[in-house]
Amino acid sequence: MLQSFPTLDDADVKGKRVLLRVDLNVPMADGKVADVSRIERNAPTIAEIADKGGKVVLVSHYGRPKGRDAKESLKPVAAAVAAIIGRPIGFVDDCVGEAAERAVAAMQPGDIVCLENTRFHPGEEKNDRDFARRLARLGDIFVDDAFSVAHRAHASVEAVAHLLPAYAGRAMQEELEALNMALHAPDRPVTAIVGGAKISTKLDLLGNLLGKVETLVIGGAMANTFLLALGKPVGKSLVEPDLVPVARDILAQAKAERRAIVLPVDAVVAQKLADHVPSRVVSVDAVGATDMMLDIGPRSVEQAIAVLARSKTLVWNGPFGAFEHEPFDAGTVAVAEAAAELTADTMAALNLAGVTGRFTYVSTAGGAFLEWLEGKTLPGVEVLKAARASATLEA
Ligand code: 3PG
Ligand code: MG
Repeated sequence: MLQSFPTLDDADVKGKRVLLRVDLNVPMADGKVADVSRIERNAPTIAEIADKGGKVVLVSHYGRPKGRDAKESLKPVAAAVAAIIGRPIGFVDDCVGEAAERAVAAMQPGDIVCLENTRFHPGEEKNDRDFARRLARLGDIFVDDAFSVAHRAHASVEAVAHLLPAYAGRAMQEELEALNMALHAPDRPVTAIVGGAKISTKLDLLGNLLGKVETLVIGGAMANTFLLALGKPVGKSLVEPDLVPVARDILAQAKAERRAIVLPVDAVVAQKLADHVPSRVVSVDAVGATDMMLDIGPRSVEQAIAVLARSKTLVWNGPFGAFEHEPFDAGTVAVAEAAAELTADTMAALNLAGVTGRFTYVSTAGGAFLEWLEGKTLPGVEVLKAARASATLEA
């Protein structure tokens, strides 16, 4: 199959300087990387380019610094990357300029260096052409392996890809293939699970998904507003009363288009949101005046699992309950475990904190995954598609 974007299969990296955009924006705790999953996703691409005799120049943002800030240095992250891939990685404390150019000029095939945080330069977030030109001087080709930052039109993602021959790395390729399979050419029926606190932040998502899936399972506090729209008692639960008309419209649209919207039928309720507070399970018709719905109940879990058992494709964004507080993560975990069991014949694309397992595809992207689910075009992906188009024209 001809990819709509060029990949490492199309690139000749031998002896070349490969500017490799990775997403090293990883959670840190006490100066150590607290979650290495993004690094593990990028590791095969780094190793492949080095093994093919490329000179790997890693480039990434980290955090949201305002200018240069030692607390936002990529240096400790570069050390974690070196440990994970089991090879030495040089570090340069600027991503452009003389020091970076000298370090790259001294590289041998197979060497790896990591450049300092791109966001130390204001040109990065401005997608500035001149800054991108300075980055482009450090590579013969550009490889983007950072889907999770593809929603940012930033210089190291977008502008630089116009200046060098651009290719998708293996993690980017895998992510785009999985996402494409999940929503653009899926096995049907397709189910989407959308959770999280607020309808207001997920209107575009719900609108886009409704047109694409057979069944939409709604959970999280956003389900409360739908329940309110149906006249159910919600007690002290988190709701968005001003979005009740929107919820009604969504329900009506689904009905008109014969899409099923599945709402919780029972809930785990408590008097306040904290870890291990006393809780009980009630029907959504019997939520008391002081109750807060904090998770879906066991009948809702069964209901969601029954939907998944009939589905061929699942996309999932957002938890069913107040995931950060035990035991209100239980509904999400139970459905995720069942989904993982079913994944032998279910294509699943999801991004859920704390949920991995044997899914076809677990995204490491936050904002980019959401924007993709919303049907938005991602600048970092568009520029790769444009690279394919121009390569085809030249051929
Ligand atoms: C992320 O963590 O979602 C990406 O690395 C993008 O980071 P940002 O939200 O700071 O642009
Ligand atoms: Mg973010």
